[in-house]
Amino acid sequence: MMEKTRSASAIARANIALIKYWGNHDANLRLPANSSISLTLDGLETKTRVSFDDSLPADQIHINGVSADEESRSRVATHLDRIRRLAGISSFAIVESQNNFPSGAGLASSSSAFAALTLAGVVAAGMQPDRKDLSRIARMGSGSACRSVLGGYVIWYAAQSDTESFAEQLAPREHWHLVDLIAIVDRQHKHTGSTLGHSLADTSPLQPARVSDAARRIEICRRAILERDFQELASVVEQDSNLMHAVMLTSTPPLMYWTPQTLEVMRAVYDWRDEGFDVCYTLDAGPNVHCLCTFHHAEEVKNRLEHIPGILEILEAHPGEQAQLIEVEGNPSH
Ligand code: PMV
Repeated sequence: MMEKTRSASAIARANIALIKYWGNHDANLRLPANSSISLTLDGLETKTRVSFDDSLPADQIHINGVSADEESRSRVATHLDRIRRLAGISSFAIVESQNNFPSGAGLASSSSAFAALTLAGVVAAGMQPDRKDLSRIARMGSGSACRSVLGGYVIWYAAQSDTESFAEQLAPREHWHLVDLIAIVDRQHKHTGSTLGHSLADTSPLQPARVSDAARRIEICRRAILERDFQELASVVEQDSNLMHAVMLTSTPPLMYWTPQTLEVMRAVYDWRDEGFDVCYTLDAGPNVHCLCTFHHAEEVKNRLEHIPGILEILEAHPGEQAQLIEVEGNPSH
């Protein structure tokens, strides 16, 4: 007999890009303009439960205990449509999603959110894809989510087709204990979200230069990770972040994410590295500064960050695991 409800819960962690994804060559499929590399973060988690129920008249989406706004609702429902199409089912679902990090911290949660939604959604829908296909499906919900399907150090390949653009682990989290100290300087939600931001990338005359040099940066970053070479990593990570923000600043309209405090933290980090500390900065589409450091230097860097006026909060994250299933109920295969 057909089960009436089929549900699954999954957990996924956010990731910080070391080599950034910015701009798509196919926005529909979210095929990125360049390959990217990230570190999955265990401090920043999303738990999501998806329950397909034949009796529902529409999808119901709850984020952190409240009904999602129209923009998030429609983005999640579109992703559920993809999963329904792949699984050959038509029932609507209840989605309940919780972030463990302060939702007002001004941090993007789409990487962990769409990785957890994809894993819970496909399993509740009765599919059992491998990591590669899971990553491809997550990619269509949010590009960076395809990297959160994997743990540790992860590479996402830019490719011409849907089947070839997926993420893969470069090294497990135990390989290198880096710490991400996230200096929150602004708790406002970002003015321009990344979906719109990606579509503006090609309006910057600097984007072709950023993209055509990406393979070189990927190779330096990949080698620095595999050889645990912090100095090499630091210079390529900072250059890559600066290149992305140069594209943002020169887009039409320009995207300016930095505040004066952002710049202050970036300069301090740069000076501390000059003094001999293993620390570098990287920024996503927002003003908060991710300060990456080796485990041995993390405490001192945190102390110093605490003395910079204007930092509202410091979040600490360590290398994290791949997205995991927590629970499955009902019998999805019937
Ligand atoms: O996955 P999206 O659409 O939220 O885009 C992520 C964009 C950046 O965070 C700025 C860079 C990246 O590679 O994660």
